[in-house]
Amino acid sequence: MAITLLLLLCFVISAADGSRIVGGRESAPHSRPYMASLQSRGSHFCGGALVRADFVVTAAHCPTPDRVVLGAHSLRDNEQTKQVFRVVRAFRHPDYNMLLNDIKLLKLDRSAQLTPAVQTIPIGPGTPITGRQCLTAGWGYIDNNRKSPDKLQEIDVFIINQRTCQTRWPFLAQSMICAMPTGAFRGFCNGDSGGPLVCDGGVAGVVSFSGRICGDSTTPDVYTRVSSFRDWITRVLNTDGSRIVGGREAAPHSRPYMASLQSRGRNFCGGALVRADFVVTAAHCDSSGPYTVVLGAHSLSASEPTKQEFSVIRSIPHPAYDGDMNDIMLLKLNGSAQLSEAVQVIALKSGRLRTGSQCVTAGWGDVGDNRTLATKLQEVGVTTLSQQECRKRWGQVPISRTMVCGVGAHTLQGFCSGDSGGPLVCDRAAAGVVSFSGRRCGDPKTPDVYTRISSFTDWITEVLRSN
Ligand SMILES: *[C@@H]1O[C@H](CO)[C@@H](O)[C@H](O)[C@H]1NC(C)=O
Ligand SMILES: *[C@@H]1O[C@H](CO)[C@@H](O)[C@H](O)[C@H]1NC(C)=O
Repeated sequence: MAITLLLLLCFVISAADGSRIVGGRESAPHSRPYMASLQSRGSHFCGGALVRADFVVTAAHCPTPDRVVLGAHSLRDNEQTKQVFRVVRAFRHPDYNMLLNDIKLLKLDRSAQLTPAVQTIPIGPGTPITGRQCLTAGWGYIDNNRKSPDKLQEIDVFIINQRTCQTRWPFLAQSMICAMPTGAFRGFCNGDSGGPLVCDGGVAGVVSFSGRICGDSTTPDVYTRVSSFRDWITRVLNTDGSRIVGGREAAPHSRPYMASLQSRGRNFCGGALVRADFVVTAAHCDSSGPYTVVLGAHSLSASEPTKQEFSVIRSIPHPAYDGDMNDIMLLKLNGSAQLSEAVQVIALKSGRLRTGSQCVTAGWGDVGDNRTLATKLQEVGVTTLSQQECRKRWGQVPISRTMVCGVGAHTLQGFCSGDSGGPLVCDRAAAGVVSFSGRRCGDPKTPDVYTRISSFTDWITEVLRSN
């Protein structure tokens, strides 16, 4: 039985050759304003759809991109409508396996500005019925000779009955949906993967796989059925960045290891000084633009004589950071900080962190869900949770051993967007790095999640030694 299944899968994998649109037409410019282009090293490789101003849905088999481009019609042209984003976190479906559960959500580094060329599209309410006309679009190859289009292509497709589709794809699961264009040699092909199947104005599917010959008229194209993942999507969309809520102002300079990462004078992430010339922060705080690291601050707006400002000569994100796991980064400063009462190095926590440890986290992020920025350093007490309890509360969002979870003593206490990268301090040592939290800041149903520093001691030691 296992062997048969394996053989079948091998056959399927060799037969399934990704996806690109053949026999389609060029879309009217910006008529599909939800379309996202996933790019790495400047090249488009997968599509996606903007389902919230800061979230794109795509296929799990698409690697996490360097950048996401919205508002494009032509990939090459320098269009004013384009908006470019980094991915701060990728949520691959936890049960993704080969062709099953082929769905992923990408959290963008900020919310897209909604314009006529950039719009969100809702998740389709249900499953489209057999024969329903839908549409799929993408920038993938337009023929079997691997010719790539520059402009967005689209094609009308019709939903195929599950039983009929199973005659071609015997392993077809309920969480997949099949569709085909009319006429031979039409359909999607490699490069349109991850793009949406749009029915009745909502996303009903995500382009997953197709036959070996693009648009082969005997082989329906297969999409991930989005309605099967509604609960998971809702849960992930309710997961968000981090800022401190319900905290208190820290005593001035009582946390002398705190670093503020600033871009154009605005704090966007925190960090901790671990050597006079090194700061530890979150990998998702990596910024392509120029930024500075400010040490010795209490109030960000006041001009304090204790402040020391540095630029970053090398940012070293963990090599296995994938937009999700291993969310840790080291920053080498352009000089050594002068240690003073307001600027000190913090030790790294070695060894086990017991469940129920009383810790503190601090930052200059927002102080409430109304997104007001704090100018003075805020701090909040945190109690660590067991791995099991954290996994239970987060449900389908995967929590790994290299993460540690914590909650505030009261409800609606915790961190929120803007405190990312700041330290979790337990026993006077840095035990974690603020990674992510629930959408409602400080909600105990979604405990705050930190990167566990002790899982990365060897890596940190090696980087510090060789730099
Ligand atoms: C380091 O960078 C900061 C900010 O860009 C600058 O003010 C400072 O002079 C630099 N220090 C050294 C030692 O180059
Ligand atoms: C924003 O939230 C903070 C903290 O909850 C509160 O003190 C402040 O009054 C709020 N500001 C506005 C404008 O609602």
